[in-house]
Amino acid sequence: MNNQGNPNLIHSRLPETEISKVFSNALNNYNRISSEDKAAIFYDLAFIERKIAGLKQIFPGATLHAVAIKANTLARVLEKMRAMGTGAEVASLPELFMAQEAGFAPGNIVFDSPCKTKAEIEYALKSGVYINADSFDELDRIAAIRETVKSESGIGLRINPQVGAGSINSTSVAGEFSKFGIPLNDNKERIISYFRNYEWLKGMHVHIGSQGCPVQLLVSGVGRVLDLALELNKLLENASKSNRVEVFDIGGGLPVLYHPGQETVSMEGYAAMLKEKCGELFTNRFRIFTEFGRYIHANAGWVASRVEYVKREKDYNIIMTHAGADLFLRKCYNPADWYHQISVVDKHGNAKTGTDKIKYTVAGPLCFAGDILARDIELPPVNEGDYLLIHDAGAYTLSMWSRYNSRQMPKVIGYYSGDDDFEVLKERERPEDLVEFWS
Ligand code: LLP
Repeated sequence: MNNQGNPNLIHSRLPETEISKVFSNALNNYNRISSEDKAAIFYDLAFIERKIAGLKQIFPGATLHAVAIKANTLARVLEKMRAMGTGAEVASLPELFMAQEAGFAPGNIVFDSPCKTKAEIEYALKSGVYINADSFDELDRIAAIRETVKSESGIGLRINPQVGAGSINSTSVAGEFSKFGIPLNDNKERIISYFRNYEWLKGMHVHIGSQGCPVQLLVSGVGRVLDLALELNKLLENASKSNRVEVFDIGGGLPVLYHPGQETVSMEGYAAMLKEKCGELFTNRFRIFTEFGRYIHANAGWVASRVEYVKREKDYNIIMTHAGADLFLRKCYNPADWYHQISVVDKHGNAKTGTDKIKYTVAGPLCFAGDILARDIELPPVNEGDYLLIHDAGAYTLSMWSRYNSRQMPKVIGYYSGDDDFEVLKERERPEDLVEFWS
C-alpha cells in the first residue's frame, strides 16, 4: 500500500507486479496450480488483517466492526476475522449459521435482512444475536415472539434517510424509494412512537449503498438518522422507562478502487468527516456498529484464469478463459457499472509487459453471449496457456457465484504477502460435486 499526496486519499490496490510475483511463486515453487485449476482465486490475508487493524484504530475501541460476510463468505476467512476481533453482519439464516460456525459470539453477530420469517426471528432471538428490524411489521413480530422466548438480543431499526442514490442504481439503497428500511420523510412520528412503546428497541441502523456512493452521501445519510436519534433521546430523557437509542449502526458502503490511478477517500478520511459532521457519534452516548464488506475484501483478492483459446479473426480477437459471469456476475450483466483491471502472465507465470499491444475481447466459458469480462481492451499478445490476472476480485465475486452451466467453483488460495507460503482456503469443486448438488 502506498500513500500519495493528500493523506485522506490512499491507493490501496495490490500492485500488478506483486500479484504476478505471487502467482509465479504459487505456480513454480509451490505447485499450487495444477492443470485442473482452470482458474484460482487468491487472497492476500495480510492485506485483510491490515484493513481490520486499521479499522479498529480509526474508530473508538468499543465499536463493533460487524464485517458484511456477504462480501466474502469463506469459512476460513470468517474464522480469521473472528480471531482478529471483528463481528459479522449476516443477511440470511445460512449466513447466520456460517457466523456461528466460525465462532462469533452472539452479541457480535448483526442480523440484517428485509425478509426475515417468524421462525428465523425466533431462532435469532433465542441465539441472542443482534437484530436490525427492517420494517414496523417486523418490529411487531419481534415484539410478539419476544413474549414467548427468553432473549438477550439487542434490537435496532433500519431507517432509510432518503438522501439520494449513488452512481450505481442496483447498489443504492437510500433514495426516495428503497426496498430496505423505513423511509424517514413520512415516518418520523411513527418511528418515535415505536421507540416509546418498545423499551427493548435501542438501536438505529442506516446503510446507504455499496460502491458508487460518494462519501459525502454516506455522511449525510448517517447525519440525518443521527439527528433523529439525538432528538429521540432528548424526548425520552424524562420517560420513566429506559427507552433510548444506545447503538448506532452506520452500515458499510465505503467505496473502493478498481481503476488504476483513481483515488478515493480512505477510511481515515471517512471517519474524519463523520467526526466533523456527526461528532455526537464519537461521544459515549452511542456504541457504534459498522458493517463494511467491500472495503475489507475487494482489493485483497484476485483471480488467475487460464487462457484456453485465442480466436483470431480479421476484425477481432477473443480470449476464451475460465472465469466469466459465474464469478463476475455484476461485471458481465452490468458492464457499464463495474470494472476489473486485467493483466497477463505467460504459462510459466512471467508477467507479459510488452508495449506492442493488441485489442482483445475477454470471454468467459458460459453458454450465453453476455458472458464477456471485457471488450476491446489492449493487452500484450496473448497465447493459449497464458493466465489472465483479474484484479480487485475479493468482494462480491465468489460470494455471488452462479451455478449456471454447473461450472466447478475454483480453488481459493490464501497467502500472507511477504511470507512465502500458501494455504488452501477452499478446494476446487470436482465435477462429482456438481452432480451431487443437482441431485
Ligand atoms: N450492510 C448492509 C445492510 C448491506 O446491505 C451491505 C451490502 C453492507 C452492509 C456492506 O456494504 P459494503 O461495505 O460491502 O459496500 N456487488 C453486490 C453488492 C451488494 C451489496 C449489498 N449490501 C451486488 O451487486 O449485489
